[in-house]
Amino acid sequence: MHFYILTLFPEMVMQGLGTSILGRAAERGHISIEAVNIRDHTLDRHGKVDDYTYGGGAGMLMQAQPVYDACMAVQEKIAAADGEKKARVVYVTPQGEIFRQEMAREFAKEENLIFLCGHYEGIDERVLEEVVTDYVSIGDYVLTGGELPAMVMVDAIARLVPGVLHNADSAVTETFHDGLLEYPQYSRPEVWRGRKVPEILLSGDHAKVDRWRRDQSLERTKRLRPDLYAAYVETHPDAAEDK
Ligand code: ADE
Repeated sequence: MHFYILTLFPEMVMQGLGTSILGRAAERGHISIEAVNIRDHTLDRHGKVDDYTYGGGAGMLMQAQPVYDACMAVQEKIAAADGEKKARVVYVTPQGEIFRQEMAREFAKEENLIFLCGHYEGIDERVLEEVVTDYVSIGDYVLTGGELPAMVMVDAIARLVPGVLHNADSAVTETFHDGLLEYPQYSRPEVWRGRKVPEILLSGDHAKVDRWRRDQSLERTKRLRPDLYAAYVETHPDAAEDK
């Protein structure tokens, strides 16, 4: 899967996403991540990409032309490699739909994905209307720019791409996979600061361990995320009786 991030701060994005699991996944060819500097596409002689807003108001706005040309350059590159189909363009904005695991799963099916990161007071509305297919927020708070949200989304999506995680199981049994929070986990030593690992995990009885983990997931979800629990029992009426 190929990620393209349109930004004024390409080094920020590449430093954040070029290490650890995603860095290795890129080296092995499971994903590619390219930060495209919007400033490289401005037609302004001085490299300007922002200007005052019509009607007044605080701050500067990113102008339509450099954003449009940067986006078109990426779409043309994708078309040259992959044929006619245009890639989805995700504008990261606190005004967007809230990003969730389900959305990450949807995006992970795409072959190419373009993220557009705003800065300053935002981006000229006309270019958004022209190029954006999805408006997405990572939560109800305002950050200084779209780079961190784009990085959050790329991370959440990329780890679902086959081959990116070593252990195929870990994307299956994790929190949210089934709409439930993950059960507690333990490693060595068996006793730490007087706290023992739950006996059942040492029993070697896999059926019992599975049942215990499921009960723990249900109990935890009910206690910590009653909203998720309510949605889960809607679709799994047996779960409420289990507990
Ligand atoms: N840009 C600024 N704040 C944001 C948020 N919460 N989500 C997505 N993009 C943003």
